[in-house]
Amino acid sequence: MFKRFVPFFLLFVGLALLPAPGPAEDFSALVKRCEICHGQNGNSGLPMFPSIAGFSYEGFLYTMDEYRENRRIAIEFQQPNEPETVMINIAQQLSDADLKGLANYFSKRKYIPRSQAFDPELASRGAILHESHCERCHLQNGTEPADDKPILAGQWTPYLRLQFKNILSGKRLVSRRMSNRLKKLNQEDIEALLNFYASVN
Ligand code: HEC
Ligand code: HEC
Repeated sequence: MFKRFVPFFLLFVGLALLPAPGPAEDFSALVKRCEICHGQNGNSGLPMFPSIAGFSYEGFLYTMDEYRENRRIAIEFQQPNEPETVMINIAQQLSDADLKGLANYFSKRKYIPRSQAFDPELASRGAILHESHCERCHLQNGTEPADDKPILAGQWTPYLRLQFKNILSGKRLVSRRMSNRLKKLNQEDIEALLNFYASVN
């Protein structure tokens, strides 16, 4: 009779020894989920996944809202053994408290500009275009998080190229002042800007 109780007893002891899943643990699991794609501390190692480290708190929340409210298209992707997903689904599953926690966490991580090949001639043309069309909002050559805009300098070029395409085709909605600026540019100007942002770090 006694013997039959032993396993139950052990089971309860075992459960008591397991750390209770508290909010802190949930949060670090959430961060790890983001880091699968966005890289450790939000510095992405993959050209189609943007780095998200070091963005401003407000800018981060704004961006996540754009996904939540479906104002921003996002590429579909699939990871081994995972269903296909898009950033919109991920954002819509997060609570306001999660989002504030993530904004706080990633805004405090150090942004590491990606070192990428660039054409120096195009980059210097891009520098002039940036100064006259973009610097007003994307401060310090697109390096300054305090402007509450996404960091452009040292962001992955393939990711940025896709964003230009999505903004210009109207698939990604941005403020009219921003899209009006972009519409004044031709494809060569955009390539020059991309080379410029790859050159700044
Ligand atoms: C399975 C991969 C994946 C996961 C997991 C993921 N993301 Fe993303 N994320 C992406 C991709 C891809 C994009 C670019 C989407 C696009 O605009 O096409 C993106 C874009 C973003 C952006 C916009 C960056 C910018 O420069 O505008 C933010 C912010 C972001 N993700 C935050 C998060 C957070 C926070 C988490 C965790 C809760 C997360 N992501 C989880 C793949 C992922
Ligand atoms: C009036 C202010 C303003 C001007 C001028 C402006 N932008 Fe922006 N830009 C923004 C804002 C705000 C966002 C965030 C948009 C959003 O997600 O809704 C943004 C986002 C972007 C993004 C997306 C980055 C990412 O990681 O998702 C790119 C690329 C960009 N801007 C490039 C440019 C370039 C190049 C110029 C100059 C030709 C420019 N912008 C001029 C305000 C501006």
